[in-house]
Formats: sequence, C-alpha cells, structure tokens
Amino acid sequence: MTGEDLPRVAGPVPGPASRGWVDRLARHECPAITARRARRAEALGVADTDPIVWVESRGSNVRDADGNVFVDLVAGFGVASVGHRHPRVVAAGQAQLGVLPHAMGDVYPDPNRIRLLEALARHTGLPQAILGSSGSDAVEAALKTARVASGRDGVVAFTGAYHGLSYGALAVTGYKAGAFQAPFAGQLGPHVRRRPFGGDLGPMDGVGAVLVEPIQGRGGVRVPPPGWLAGLRAACDAAGAVLIFDEVFVGFGRTGRWFAHQHEGVVPDLLCLGKGMAAGFPISACVGRREVMEAWGASRGEALHTQTFLGNPVGCAMAAACIQVIEDEALVERSAELGAWLAERLAAFGPVRGRGLMLGLELPDALGVSRRLLERGFITLPAGEGAEVLQLSPPLTVARAQLDAFLDTLGEVL
Ligand SMILES: Cc1ncc(COP(=O)(O)O)c(C=O)c1O
Repeated sequence: MTGEDLPRVAGPVPGPASRGWVDRLARHECPAITARRARRAEALGVADTDPIVWVESRGSNVRDADGNVFVDLVAGFGVASVGHRHPRVVAAGQAQLGVLPHAMGDVYPDPNRIRLLEALARHTGLPQAILGSSGSDAVEAALKTARVASGRDGVVAFTGAYHGLSYGALAVTGYKAGAFQAPFAGQLGPHVRRRPFGGDLGPMDGVGAVLVEPIQGRGGVRVPPPGWLAGLRAACDAAGAVLIFDEVFVGFGRTGRWFAHQHEGVVPDLLCLGKGMAAGFPISACVGRREVMEAWGASRGEALHTQTFLGNPVGCAMAAACIQVIEDEALVERSAELGAWLAERLAAFGPVRGRGLMLGLELPDALGVSRRLLERGFITLPAGEGAEVLQLSPPLTVARAQLDAFLDTLGEVL
C-alpha cells in the first residue's frame, strides 16, 4: 500500500477472515459496541452489515484482514489528518517510546509536553491548555474551567451537537439525545439549556458557558448562518459567560483554515481539540485564554483537574510532529483547495454542506449508500440525526486520483 492506492476488493465484504475476527469479538465485547450482521442488512439492500477488521493503514488506505484495500474517506473519524501512519509522526512516536513512554501527569512533566503546549499556543493564539486523552476529556476540561471562571452553573448547548459520551459531555450532547441520553437522564443534571443550532440564544441569566461546534460534524456537517458565531460571542461578552468552541472534529486544517472559527474571525475563550491532533494517538486539549485558565488558581500540590496519562510523552511527541507536518506540507491550504474542488464535483449528486475537506452530501439513503460504497472499497459514514448526509472527511493528504475514483463509484452506486 502506498497510501495513494485505489481500492482493491476481491470477494465479499466483509470476507471470511474479518468475519472470523468479528465472531470472536462478539464473545468478549459488550454487545452495545460493535454492530453485527443482519441487523439492518435487508433494509439497506446490502448483503451484510458486519464490519471489516482493519489490520494495516497507510496514508488514505486501510487494509482489512482479508487483504482488501480500502480508501478511507473519513480519516478514521477524522483522526488521520496527515494520513494514517505518517512517517514523521510514527518516527516521533517510536523514538519517544524507546526513551520515555510515560511521565507523571501533573506531578512530573517531560519536555515533549512543554513543546506541544508551546505549539498549541502558537497555532491557536490561546496561551494555556489542559491536555487530555479524548475529545470528551477536552470538553469536560472546558466545562469545568468555564464553571470555575464564571461562577455559574448554566450551560447553553445546541440541537444536533455531539460533544462525546462521558457524563459531562453527554449532558451537553444533543445529537440523538433520545438514544444517547435517555437511559442516563436522571444522572445528567439540570444545568443544560438546549437551543436551536443557528437559532436564537434565548435568556442568559445564570448561564456561565455557551458550548458550540463552529461546524457540526456528527450532527450532519452543519454550517451555521454567517454572523451567528459572532452573535454568540457578543451575547457571552454581555452576560459574562465563557464561549467554548468544540473543534475536536474540525480543528487542525480540516475545514481549510487551521481552526474552523477563523472563517468567521470569532475568537473563543476556550477551544476543544482532539482527533486529528496527533493522527493516531489518543490525545486532546482544551486550550484557552490566560484569564480564564487562571481562574483555577495555582496548584498547591493536588491538581484539581488531572488524569494518570495527562500529557503522555509519546502522544505529545506525535502531536507536535503532526502539527509540524500540517504546517510543512501546507495541508491547511490543500484542504481548502481540494475541498472546494470536491464540493463542486459532489454537487452533481445532491446538496453539499461543509467547508474544506469537511463535507456532507445530502442523500435520501446515506446509510445504504455508505454500505454499498464499502463493498466497492470506499469508507464513508452517514451523519446527521436522520442519517441524511454522507460524510466525507478524508485525510488532508488524500490523492486527487482517489477522489476521482470515488466520484466515479458514487455515480455508479447511486
Ligand atoms: C465535535 C466533537 N466533540 C467531541 C467528540 C468526542 O470525542 P471522543 O470520541 O474522542 O471522546 C467528538 C467525537 O466525535 C466530536 O466530533
């Protein structure tokens, strides 16, 4: 696999080897995690809904247990920003693994963490950060920081928002709330006020934080109306509330700017980052303004917010390398240019949403189309509350020829 290969699929998808692994998986993994065969296969008009089992990746390619080669047009949930297994990111991780795989979070730092914090400050313009291991961690850190800084419990969050599934993040997640939140509603607290994404903010009394994705990802690649984010900024300033942008999905060049909020020129108080930050290591950050972060006060030896793996040296080394690759390979500019080209081509098939290489194609049957594309070697995902959108968030390094082949296949599948 070069990373720029076109799909090579021989036989059924999934093949027998993937199927064997999935049977073993089903015996030992909680059944709520991985969707299994025949659940919806008939309704989708496809042979199967069992997953393929990934064994190798490179660039925009993934190889499964049966040796089939796919083009990953969602970058593994947006993680493979610079492509899967980018040599410079891998080298940084391997070198660090051989020297110091773990430091001691809030107690004993290491230089990689300090270098990463400096890089985050340089690129976001926000000088201080709390590192975490997942996007949800970044959201939890932002919500707690906003509570400390504002002194108020109320949080405004939006319809269709996806912020993760840990308890604090789940409380603000609006996407498929009936499924994700309902069983836990009694444990989620009464502090969240849900407002329409792109709509009216409503009264701000008692509100200490407004949390929003500048472009919704899982909610259906939804771009708010121009000026709406600036309105949120003004409302937060007037009310003394903290404005949090969740760019876990859309940060680091995905939308054709380093960060999606830069399209609108609106600066948040806190910014949540994750996914594509290290292109394959679970690491995230809540980055923020100094005055807001300083509301925590200085640690007196017992950090009020931390975790065992905070600032893991391997993750920090990989993230710093990944950010440098985005810069050196001019991937933000590439995302803008290639994204505009792709959006234009996709418009032949239906309405297109998004910016840069964060795109959604509105289709009546995105779920079924996504499955049929998988059978032809292209990995995509449905997005939106009603799976009304085919989500495309490929590596920013995806080859033009891979996109050309995808567009041809999409035409055939439709
Ligand atoms: C915008 C946004 N925020 C937060 C999260 C949660 O991240 P994680 O799944 O790493 O906890 C996601 C994940 O899809 C996301 O898209």
